[in-house]
Amino acid sequence: MAALISPSVIGHRGACGHAPENTLASMKKAAELGSQWVEFDVRLSRDGVLVVFHDAGLQRTTNGKGLVAETDLADLQALDAGGWFSKEFAGEAIPTLSQVAGELARLGLGANVEIKQGAETARAAARFLANLWPDNSPPPLISSFHEDALAAAAETAPQISRALCINKIPPDWRQRLDGLGCAALHCKHDRLKPEQAAAAAAAGVALRCYTVNRASRALKLFGWGVNAVFSDFPERISKRMGGSGLEC
Ligand code: G3P
Ligand code: MG
Repeated sequence: MAALISPSVIGHRGACGHAPENTLASMKKAAELGSQWVEFDVRLSRDGVLVVFHDAGLQRTTNGKGLVAETDLADLQALDAGGWFSKEFAGEAIPTLSQVAGELARLGLGANVEIKQGAETARAAARFLANLWPDNSPPPLISSFHEDALAAAAETAPQISRALCINKIPPDWRQRLDGLGCAALHCKHDRLKPEQAAAAAAAGVALRCYTVNRASRALKLFGWGVNAVFSDFPERISKRMGGSGLEC
């Protein structure tokens, strides 16, 4: 499968330097800052609903306790997922994937949906993206650190482009991508070597790096052949590039 084209700057968890990560407010902020795409994380609630949330546990980013996977949607949505970030965002809820999809369509944003759990979550997310993703939104990109999730997504909705997330690119990256039918690699920017970026570019594999918050670092990575960066402050980088512009 050919790599999906993405903008060169992607808002991380929305625009999580400006608003509480993975909330509707964060998606809105990304759009206000001129982002074309956002990345966000998905996992399943106890009662099997896809929610947009990063950690396994609730403690860091809500006023709740325990695990997302052990909490029903109604209880998750009763939590405050914004007050920890600032008073301004108190009362922001944990959104479902469906709510985020609707908001992104309204805002005209594209999406990288990162699957934070294994095959079951991936199957549910891939089904949602294949059948219920708004027609007027750009096609979504699935990514995951979990290879079983990527394999399950490939089985459920092979037409949706996939990327393997991996902090440090391993020597067998090509075989891994081929085995999973992935056309892109998402890696940690400070673990990447210039020759790995060159090899990815030569292989026609899209390479995107997280999490890059300094414009000078982003420009260096682009010079190595990196296609895109995920940023908590996407506007810092797009401003230095003269707009939200370049596409890979
Ligand atoms: O998907 C890129 C990046 O978000 C991966 O790391 O921990 O921020 O989800 P994390
Ligand atoms: Mg993520």
